[in-house]
Amino acid sequence: MTTAIIGTGGLGSVIARHLASGGESVRLSSADNESARKLAAQIGRAAVVAVDNRDALQGADAVILALRFTVLRGVIDEIAGPLNDKLVVVPSNPLTIDAQGNVSRVLPKGQSSGKVVAGWLPKGARLAMAFGTLPADHFESSSNRSPEPAVLFYAADDDRAGEEVERLIRTAGFEPVKVGGIEQSGRLEVGGDLHDLVVGPAEARSLIGGAPPRDRSPG
Ligand SMILES: NC(=O)c1ccc[n+]([C@@H]2O[C@H](COP(=O)([O-])OP(=O)(O)OC[C@H]3O[C@@H](n4cnc5c(N)ncnc54)[C@H](OP(=O)(O)O)[C@@H]3O)[C@@H](O)[C@H]2O)c1
Repeated sequence: MTTAIIGTGGLGSVIARHLASGGESVRLSSADNESARKLAAQIGRAAVVAVDNRDALQGADAVILALRFTVLRGVIDEIAGPLNDKLVVVPSNPLTIDAQGNVSRVLPKGQSSGKVVAGWLPKGARLAMAFGTLPADHFESSSNRSPEPAVLFYAADDDRAGEEVERLIRTAGFEPVKVGGIEQSGRLEVGGDLHDLVVGPAEARSLIGGAPPRDRSPG
């Protein structure tokens, strides 16, 4: 099957490589397409560089928006038509980084990226918040872990989105575990109790049903 990946930076490139290793075809797009071209050359035949963001969606079964939160809305508006009836996977944490490298939150405390992004999408798009729980280096080192696979948590409101994102998570070399609907997605983001956890399925399931969410946000 085919997945469009818009954004081929630190996270998008790792996701694309792991999906392609798992047998997925990927259609890549980035701001100036230079990073997309380099990545496609590394991946080989499973990767195609799209002409632009809309073109990335041509023939794709799903799209992963591996973009910084601050550019997400503009890209969603640009590709809104083709997003209808597609799985849209968003790993974005609600953060911004200034020229000095200082990271700060762009949403009020308690408001999750998932809730906000859901309001930006066209009605027919199926949102799953996923692939943003682990830093890229942990994603890389935990994929295809053996004997017990590592978990990637996700949040989705509809069952079809859940099934589709579970397939992608398995293709990338992880075991999917659902935290709940999009209203639970704050648990997956920076500051959430399930962010940056490399755990197996049993521990993941006990965490989901265990203690109430712990707020680990810096302020
Ligand atoms: N990096 C991580 O470890 C990590 C972990 C978990 C979650 N996340 C989340 O993942 C998201 C991406 O993070 P990142 O570290 O991968 O960021 P990044 O390295 O800055 O990459 C951002 C990508 O977005 C592309 N881009 C920017 N504007 C675009 C546009 N208008 N159209 C198409 N592509 C555009 C850039 O293109 P160019 O390459 O052409 O500049 C770049 O490929 C963030 O929201 C972050 O919170 C990241």
